[in-house]
Amino acid sequence: MSEAGVGNQERKHLKTIWKLVLSMACPLSIVISCRDQGNEVRATVPISSDSELFRHITQIDPFSSYLLFPRADSITSGTLNGSTAHQPLVSVRINGKASGVLQNGRFPEGSVFPEGSVIFKQIISGGQTTLYAVMYKDSKNPLAGNGWLWAEFQPDGTSHISLTRKGAGCMACHSREQGPQHDLVRTFERQR
Ligand code: HEC
Repeated sequence: MSEAGVGNQERKHLKTIWKLVLSMACPLSIVISCRDQGNEVRATVPISSDSELFRHITQIDPFSSYLLFPRADSITSGTLNGSTAHQPLVSVRINGKASGVLQNGRFPEGSVFPEGSVIFKQIISGGQTTLYAVMYKDSKNPLAGNGWLWAEFQPDGTSHISLTRKGAGCMACHSREQGPQHDLVRTFERQR
């Protein structure tokens, strides 16, 4: 047999070995990806209580790191249809996930906020923050109303309006005017 022939045979052997290795590695990779998915599922256990949501917005993804709502006054007394809900002054911030969907600070037509988005509103009275109103995007959460968890807290974490109400007292106002075209976020209506 010529040297080249031996070389060919060796290559054939190598190919067979590779095929074997690959056929063993494929099921292994499926196991690994399943385990990854398992971890992911565990890491995103849905928020199911007011205290968990409060912890989320004060510790895990704290509102102190959010950006002010773009192109809108940082503090305002709302003059929109329904602004009476939160008086006298409001200030709205959004977390990184939420701001990721915006283009030049505006909401692209037909978009939806990504999962994990937080819109955080402080209600200010006499120079003090008296209430937090929170929208947290978690559309598969059984407590979600129209894709969002809706809750209000006193700044010490006491629940004022529980997320277990699934936005019952919130969604009608948030569906007014341009709410539906902005994934129910009304502050877009006071953008410059
Ligand atoms: C009477 C109508 C009304 C009700 C009820 C209401 N909201 Fe709002 N909300 C508004 C309007 C209007 C804005 C826009 C900002 C402004 O002018 O105050 C707003 C703004 C917000 C914002 C900032 C994001 C956005 O949509 O602009 C959050 C967060 C929020 N509301 C949470 C809630 C929660 C939680 C509830 C229920 C517990 C609720 N709201 C009930 C009218 C309402």
